[in-house]
Formats: sequence, structure tokens, C-alpha cells
Amino acid sequence: MKRANSARISGTGSYLPSKVLTNHDLEMMVDTSDEWITERTGIKERRVTTDDQAASDLAYEAAVHALDDAGIEASDLDAILVATVCGDHLFPTTSCIVQEKIGAKRAFAYDFAAACSGFVYGMGQVRAYIESGMCKRVLLIGVETLTKLTDWTDRNTCVLFGDGAGAAVFEPGEPGEGLLSVIMHSDGALSDIIMLPAGGSRTPLTPELLADRENKIHMRGNETFKVAVKAMESAMLEVIEETGITQDQIDLLIPHQANIRIIQALAKRIEVPDDRLYLNLDRYGNTSAATIPIAIDEARRSGRIGPGSIVVTTAFGSGVTWGAAVIRL
Ligand code: ACO
Repeated sequence: MKRANSARISGTGSYLPSKVLTNHDLEMMVDTSDEWITERTGIKERRVTTDDQAASDLAYEAAVHALDDAGIEASDLDAILVATVCGDHLFPTTSCIVQEKIGAKRAFAYDFAAACSGFVYGMGQVRAYIESGMCKRVLLIGVETLTKLTDWTDRNTCVLFGDGAGAAVFEPGEPGEGLLSVIMHSDGALSDIIMLPAGGSRTPLTPELLADRENKIHMRGNETFKVAVKAMESAMLEVIEETGITQDQIDLLIPHQANIRIIQALAKRIEVPDDRLYLNLDRYGNTSAATIPIAIDEARRSGRIGPGSIVVTTAFGSGVTWGAAVIRL
């Protein structure tokens, strides 16, 4: 009989739209080059949604794969949590749309926003729900369609983002299994370094603001870069210390996929060699809350990690928000 005192991953799934946008395609759109993007970010191409694809469509596909992998029915779910800043609508929530699409009649469902840290924040919530016994089966989805919020005339940001969804089913596990540590941090003093200035209650949209693309992503990249490295480094060290694991016990480091230079700095800091570092940003770019669940799903399905593997993951995003987790599969 399993006790509700740890939250383990019982299934994962992911979905990437089929349309590919390469660095060479971007060369035709803004003053940039494949060489600059590759060297400065590590990104070669990204997936983009078509006009008729919304966040819930991507989330649905990832959810179906995760449920199938876990071997449970949608009707078994107690909760559906969707991490996104790109929901289909401001309301109703994307999670409720997914609930209806998969037929999870019993589950409560809500969205939450922590930008690129969404999946780590979600794991913090899942852990609380399952460890407290409040829920038994929780579906956590990270989904973003950031290319719909991208200013395609701004070379500083348009080369960075992609669309995608990743999902995981969590269930009660044995002690020492699943989410061993999850930490979350925020600093609202830096709220203006990555933002969507207009379209919320502070600055409702007007035709003038639309024309000025104030409803698109604005980012002070260089400042973000420096804060992101420091924040993710300290979060990783915090979860490593809390769990007492040693560097050589880490089977895979899955950092948020925003920039290869940030990732390499983090891997160096905790002395994880390249063969224990997960990278897919060359293929997908920064998919925000979806990067970590997509990576976990790919790593599980390719056999890079399996039962008993220890995964360390960390993320940083708008807010600013950041965090880290240690997971034993
Ligand atoms: N092609 C060619 N040149 C470019 C491009 C481009 N696509 N973008 C910027 N440049 C130019 C700039 O204009 C600047 O030129 P200048 O010196 O003549 O002014 C030069 O390159 C250097 O610009 P920097 O911004 O200093 O470049 P940097 O090395 O910092 O790289 C980048 C920019 C890739 C954005 C980097 O800062 C970064 O990755 N930041 C972190 C992003 C991140 O982690 N985001 C996570 C959260 S996102 C979220 O929450 C949704």
C-alpha cells in the first residue's frame, strides 16, 4: 500500500507543432544571421504554431501522451494544473478547456503564471497536494505559444522563442521517490526586465499601443542573462544541499532552455559533464514553461533516464521568478 507522502512521476508526454522556423528563415525577416543566433544563444530552429493552433491544442496532445504513458484514464485525475502565460483566453482557463477535451470530469482545473519557471512552480504545488493527501493523481502541464506574443520586427527577442507543450502525471510514491525537493523564489523589483507592457488592467490595449507593438514581449536581454545565471545557480545549490545528494549522483541536469551560455555556466558551476546535461534548445528555442517537461519526456522516452535516475532541474523567468527541483524517477 503506497502512502501519500511523496509525489512521483508516473507518466510524461510532450507535443511540438510541426511547423519549423529556422535561423535562415529569420535572416529574411530581421537584420540577423544564423552565425549570431547560434553563437549567442545555441538556437538553430524553433517550432511555431499556425493561426488555428492555440495553447489548449498543444496541451491536449501532451496530456493524452502523459495519461497513456501513466496507464490511467482522464477520469482518474483529481487535478489539472496548467502553467502558461499564453492561455487561449484571459478566461476561461486553458486548464478547463483541456479538462473538457480529455474528459477529466472529476478533476478541478486551473491555470497559473510564473513564466519560464512555471513547471518548477507547478511541481511545488503538486508536491503539496499529493504529500498532504489532498489529491492522488495530478496532471501538470507546461504550455506556451510565445511566438504569438513575439514582435517579429525586434531582433533582440524574435530569435529566442518557440512553441510547445509538456506534461507529467504525478501519483503517490514510496518515500525517497519522486519530488525530493522543490524550491521557488520571486523578486518583483525586477518585474520590468521581461514584460508584456500592454493588454492587462494596468494598460488596456488601444489602437495606438497595438501599432507600437506594446502587446508583445519586451526584454532587457543582457540584464536578464546576468540575473538568470546567479538565480538558477543559487537555486540549484539550495536543492542539492537540501537533499544531500552529491554532484556525481546527478544522472541528468535539465536547466531551463533559454541560452546555451547560461546553461554551460550552470553545468560548470555544479561540475556536471556534458554527457549528463540535457539540451534541446537548438531544436526548440525557449518554450518557457514547456522547456522542462518536454526535456523530461524526451529524456525518459530515449532511455537517457529511467527508474531510479536523479534529475536536477532549474528555471528562471519573468516576474522575476526562479526555482529548482530534485526528482528521483
Ligand atoms: N542578431 C544580430 N545581432 C543582434 C541580435 C540578433 N538577433 N540581437 C541583438 N543583437 C545585437 C544587439 O543589438 C547588440 O548590438 P550593439 O552592440 O550594436 O548594440 C549586440 O548584438 C549585443 O547585444 P546584447 O543584448 O548585449 O547580446 P547578448 O550577448 O546579451 O545576447 C540574448 C542577447 C541572447 C537575448 C541574451 O542576453 C540572453 O539570452 N538573455 C537571457 C534571456 C533569458 O534567459 N530569458 C529567460 C526568461 S524569458 C521569459 O520569461 C518569457
